[in-house]
Amino acid sequence: MQFECGKPRIALRAFSVLHGCALAALLALGACNNDNGGSGNTDAACMQSGAAGDNGNDEAGDVGPRTGSTCPDSNPPTYDNFGKQFMQKYCLRCHSQHLTCAARMGAPADHNFDVELGIIGNVKHIDEVAAAGPDATNMVMPPSDPMPSLDERKKLGEFIACEAKNSGQEL
Ligand code: HEC
Repeated sequence: MQFECGKPRIALRAFSVLHGCALAALLALGACNNDNGGSGNTDAACMQSGAAGDNGNDEAGDVGPRTGSTCPDSNPPTYDNFGKQFMQKYCLRCHSQHLTCAARMGAPADHNFDVELGIIGNVKHIDEVAAAGPDATNMVMPPSDPMPSLDERKKLGEFIACEAKNSGQEL
C-alpha cells in the first residue's frame, strides 16, 4: 500500500511516502485515498457519496444567467446586516465548512458560505443560482424548502454585487 502511495507521477523522496500520500490527496490526484477506499472524507469521496442523493455533478453547471444586480449607493446590504443571516437561513444546512460528505447533501466541498470569504470567493456562482435582479431571477438554490422570497433574492443580488465591488471583482 505504501508502495502504491509512493508511486504517483509527482517526484517524491522515498523517505516520505506517507507524507507524499497525503500530498497527493491534497493535489487531488486522489489515487491513494481512492485505492484505500478508507477515510471517506476527501473531496473526491464526498462528491461520490453526495451523488447518491443528488446528481452530484457540478460539471453540468445547472446555473442561470447573471442577474445584472448592482450595489446600491445608499444603504448597501452588508455581510453583517444581511448576508450572514441569509446564508444561515437558506444555505448553511448544506454549504457549511462544518459539514462533510453525506451531510452536505451533495453541496460542493469548496462552496462554504459560513464565512464571508467563502461568499466573496463565489460571487458569480451565487448570483447565478440564487439571486434575482433586472436581468434574471435564479432559483436553482436552495434546492428545497425553506426558500427565500423574491425580495430576499433581490437583496441577495445587491449584497453579492456589493461583495464583488468591495473585493474588486467584476460580477
Ligand atoms: C439542501 C442542500 C442545499 C442547500 C440548502 C443549498 N445548496 Fe447549493 N448546492 C447543493 C448541491 C447538492 C449542489 C451541487 C449541485 C450540482 O452539482 O449540480 C450545490 C451547488 C451550489 C453552487 C455551485 C453551483 C455550480 O454549478 O457552480 C452554488 C453557488 C450554490 N450551491 C449556492 C447555494 C446558495 C447561495 C444557497 C442558499 C441560498 C444554497 N446553495 C443552498 C445543495 C444545497
